[in-house]
Amino acid sequence: MRQRILNSLFSLRSSNVRSSSPTCISDSESVDMANILIIYSTTDGHTLRICQRLRQVIEQQSHRVTLCSIKDWRAIDLSEFDKIVIGASIRYGKHSPLVADFVTRNEELLDSKANAFFSVNVVARKPEKNQPNTNPYLLKFLRKISWKPKQLAVFAGKIDFPKYRFFDRLMIRFIMWMTNGPTHPDAVVEFTDWQQVEAFGRRICDM
Ligand SMILES: Cc1cc2nc3c(=O)[nH]c(=O)nc-3n(C[C@H](O)[C@H](O)[C@H](O)COP(=O)(O)O)c2cc1C
Repeated sequence: MRQRILNSLFSLRSSNVRSSSPTCISDSESVDMANILIIYSTTDGHTLRICQRLRQVIEQQSHRVTLCSIKDWRAIDLSEFDKIVIGASIRYGKHSPLVADFVTRNEELLDSKANAFFSVNVVARKPEKNQPNTNPYLLKFLRKISWKPKQLAVFAGKIDFPKYRFFDRLMIRFIMWMTNGPTHPDAVVEFTDWQQVEAFGRRICDM
């Protein structure tokens, strides 16, 4: 019953990307480096923070990393990169439609390179839903697109009730109540396992 209520709540509103800083930032350069692009889709910035941690790990292995918002991908030449990683958060049950649009338009190019996809959501705080083959959002997304990412990951995200608008706070608190999560109106809880993020960064280097 709870699951049915949750499913209808999550499909109430579609994803809405609100991140305001268009970014395509590249760091460090050398001849032997792999040139890695990380494209992110975020609403409140947590997926970007995960991408920044990935960049730290990857740059420690002497590769070059460019971070780019999904909104700005047209401004860059995708063919320049050896590896492309896409990370996207979930909002009301869905990734931003820009993500499916990007992979559909660039599927052939993605397939020609090492590539990876990861999803960020709070359902992944539950051990039984924190793997690519057990996270319902990632599974649903993969069914919807024909691209088959070569590496996959799921990371638990963050809740920040004070930051949310009234309606969102109400909804997410209710969802947390339904799923035995934190409900205090001042709660700010980061569920992300940063060691898991760092391990994924090393997997990207090995791809
Ligand atoms: C309005 C709103 C709706 C959300 N909907 C879901 C959801 O349906 N399922 C889920 O697991 N997490 C949901 N979340 C949690 C986000 O996925 C989580 O906060 C994530 O860290 C957000 O990443 P971002 O800051 O990069 O957008 C929602 C969060 C907000 C604020």
